[in-house]
Amino acid sequence: MSEPIIQTHELTKTYGQFTAVNHLDITVNKGEVVGLLGQNGSGKTTTFLMLMGLSLPTSGTATVAGYDVVQNSKAVRTVSGLLPDGAGYYEDLSAKQNLNYIGQLNDIPKLEREKRITEMLDVVGLTKVCDKKVEQFSRGMKQRLGIAEVLMKRPKVAFFDEPTIGLDPQGTKDIRDLLLKLNKEQGITIVLSSHLLHDVQQTCQKLLIIREGKLIAADTIENLSNTLLSREDLVIEFELTKTPAELLRELSTINGVTEVNQENHRLYVQMSSNLAREVSETITKHKSTILLMKPKEYSLEEIFLRYYEED
Ligand SMILES: Nc1ncnc2c1ncn2[C@@H]1O[C@H](COP(=O)(O)OP(=O)(O)OP(=O)(O)O)[C@@H](O)[C@H]1O
Ligand SMILES: [Mg+2]
Repeated sequence: MSEPIIQTHELTKTYGQFTAVNHLDITVNKGEVVGLLGQNGSGKTTTFLMLMGLSLPTSGTATVAGYDVVQNSKAVRTVSGLLPDGAGYYEDLSAKQNLNYIGQLNDIPKLEREKRITEMLDVVGLTKVCDKKVEQFSRGMKQRLGIAEVLMKRPKVAFFDEPTIGLDPQGTKDIRDLLLKLNKEQGITIVLSSHLLHDVQQTCQKLLIIREGKLIAADTIENLSNTLLSREDLVIEFELTKTPAELLRELSTINGVTEVNQENHRLYVQMSSNLAREVSETITKHKSTILLMKPKEYSLEEIFLRYYEED
């Protein structure tokens, strides 16, 4: 049963004449891991700030865990946590001291605070370095500390604004695994923003794609690719022993073939209906052998770009 935990209705933020977030209608269900995808300036951070009750919407509404982000912003901040893009820390304090400070800010009583600090350090894998000053931390370690800070208040919903930015592939994978673990073991609903599509593809069950503040797609990665594939011409990729110019010419004259592209020994034949048989016969006729033949698969990057390129 899917139970909404975040809901926005026509959520809008303008700065003067400029609309940063434009009538956003989104739903995130309890327990989901959702990716908010968009290019620079598309409104990701602004959306997070409004959902945390930290920035007032110009119009529209949003609720997080049942609380209205305007009427009940304090409650919203109790049940949800945000790891901001480029979060800052007290560099001359240790990881433990930073967490203690966050615990105090959240009015967590001393004993409970100490218990949580120990637990969160363990969850994010910083126990061994907990007394080191944060200035000695690597980017990945700081990111873990940031996640621990978010967890200190045991949120139902956690927002992570570009959590893997600037991390190397291993660091990225570690953070990704950590977020998935939090989701699985603690049931935290997670929304993370990124423009690193590969990353989101591995972590998120659902994508919300925004462009210039507007929601342009909200679906599973699978559904998004299927929708696009069904709209697109079919492209079949061939690997051939040879690709003589006459072959290419003849292929492009087949009725229904819309484009023929060659890259070394690979051939990409775009067609409006499945003409695989005609195309194969033409290839054989030109004394070339098909070493491989498969429909071209679209990467999330391509899907994403297509959405962006459309008007
Ligand atoms: N306080 C502000 N005053 C005026 N304009 C703002 C303000 N905050 C954000 N904007 C504008 O709103 C738009 C959306 O910004 P936002 O930071 O939400 O984008 P983003 O998707 O998080 O981008 P990035 O990927 O670069 O972090 C941008 O054009 C930005 O310049
Ligand atoms: Mg941002």
